[in-house]
Order: sequence, then structure tokens, then C-alpha cells
Amino acid sequence: MTNKPRLVVSTGAGISAESGIKTFRDADGLWENYPVMDVASADGFRRNPALIHRFYNERRKQLAQAQPNAAHIMLHKLEEYFDVCVITQNVDDLHERAGSTNVLHLHGELMKVRALDDPSLTFRLESTEVETTPETRIDGHLVRPHIVFFQEAVPMFEPATELAARADIFVIIGTSLVVYPAAALLHYVRRGVPIYYIDPSPSQVPAGVTVIQQPATEGMATLARILLKDKS
Ligand code: OAD
Repeated sequence: MTNKPRLVVSTGAGISAESGIKTFRDADGLWENYPVMDVASADGFRRNPALIHRFYNERRKQLAQAQPNAAHIMLHKLEEYFDVCVITQNVDDLHERAGSTNVLHLHGELMKVRALDDPSLTFRLESTEVETTPETRIDGHLVRPHIVFFQEAVPMFEPATELAARADIFVIIGTSLVVYPAAALLHYVRRGVPIYYIDPSPSQVPAGVTVIQQPATEGMATLARILLKDKS
């Protein structure tokens, strides 16, 4: 148990933008030049599993070149003062590589695959590549990326709502708040809990939310100043 206030942080693609990983909404239905439904849907996987494995290998290689930025690092530093829980829609591992110890991935993880015959069986990849055959196997199991595809359920949503409901301070960083159920997390925050939203161009600002209209790295420095002002 800790007596530190609980800081719950919901992050989206925008927090990794300054690490060189593109956001989704800018891409106009394409994800890194591929139609989203070809590379991020269960039907797409059934149609062409080899393409999907190739696509996620490319994303893993891109991730291996990227580094956590000052926003990821600041979230880790805030653990000194707060019980920080990160709920991320991102499939990258930049929060973990920045040192954050409590990260819940709502949409899966790029560096994992899972068995088709047992969704609870995940494999953490040691390298950025899996075989790109129509029947890629690990330990005898046919595998798929451990990613929540479009139109699939979001199994981690319920634990995420429980975290949101226990927040003493809630922060949203770099998400367009258009993809559900992630965008609904806000509704689980208790009344009276301060909510901050860091985004250089927020598409919508829910009522009662304090906007810090800056890129994530700058915005996190601003937020840290606000949150730590009585702690020095
Ligand atoms: P979006 O691409 O929808 O939104 C990115 C947000 O980041 C926008 O509001 C931008 O203004 C903001 N942004 C851009 N640069 C930024 C910066 N330097 N600092 C802070 N914010 C910045 O990404 P998400 O909301 O994360 O789902 O998208 C949600 C989900 O849509 C993704 O998880 C993905 C996609 O479909 C799956 O893969 C299942």
C-alpha cells in the first residue's frame, strides 16, 4: 500500500509522436500506407495472415529504432511523488522502456504474439521478426499479433475502468478521444477529481477538463510544474 496520491494517465498515439511513431488520425484510413482494415482486422488476418505478420514485423523494426521521449520519462519520474498508473492505447513499449512500472495496454502489445487456439497464451518476442508464412507457429501454436483488431472486444477495458474510478488525478495525453471504449474511460473518473488533457490540437474538449495545449514533451513539463508546486 502507498499513501501517494493515485495519478492515472490515459495515453494515445500522440505521446509517442515525438519519438517518431506516427499517429493514426492523420493517416486518412491508412496505417503506414496500408488500408487499416487489411492490417488491423480479424477478417484481414483470416484473408492474409502472412501480410499481417510482415506488417507487424515492420512496426517492430520501427519501434526498435525509436526511443522514449521526455514525456514518457517524466511519467516515470512522477512515480517518486505519485502512485502512477498508465493506461495506454499504444501498442509500443516506450512507457516500459522509460521505466514506468505500472502500464496497462488496452489495445495489446507489439512485442507479443498469442496462440490462436488459446488467447491467454502470449509469447514475448525476443526479436523484431516472426516468420511471415500463412501458418506462423511458435512452440507448435499458430500465432497472431497480440493486438486488439478493429471490431474485437477490448478485454482490458474493465480493469482500466477500475483504475480510472480510483484516480485522485486523471491525465489524458495525445489521444483524439474518438476510439471507443478507450474514450469512455473519462466517464469513470469520480466527480471532483482534476482532469488534465495534454494535446497540441485537441479535436474535442470534454466539460470540466483543463487543457494543456502543447506537444506531449512540453505539456508534461507544464503538468509536472502544476502537480509538484507544493511538493518541493
Ligand atoms: P489518434 O491518431 O486518433 O490521435 C492522436 C492524437 O495525438 C491527436 O489528438 C493529436 O492532436 C495528438 N498529437 C499529435 N502530436 C502530438 C504530440 N506531439 N503530443 C501530444 N499529442 C499529439 O490516436 P489515438 O487516439 O491513440 O487502435 O488512437 C486510438 C486508437 O485508434 C489507436 O490505439 C489505434 C487506432 O485505431 C488500435 O490499434 C486498436
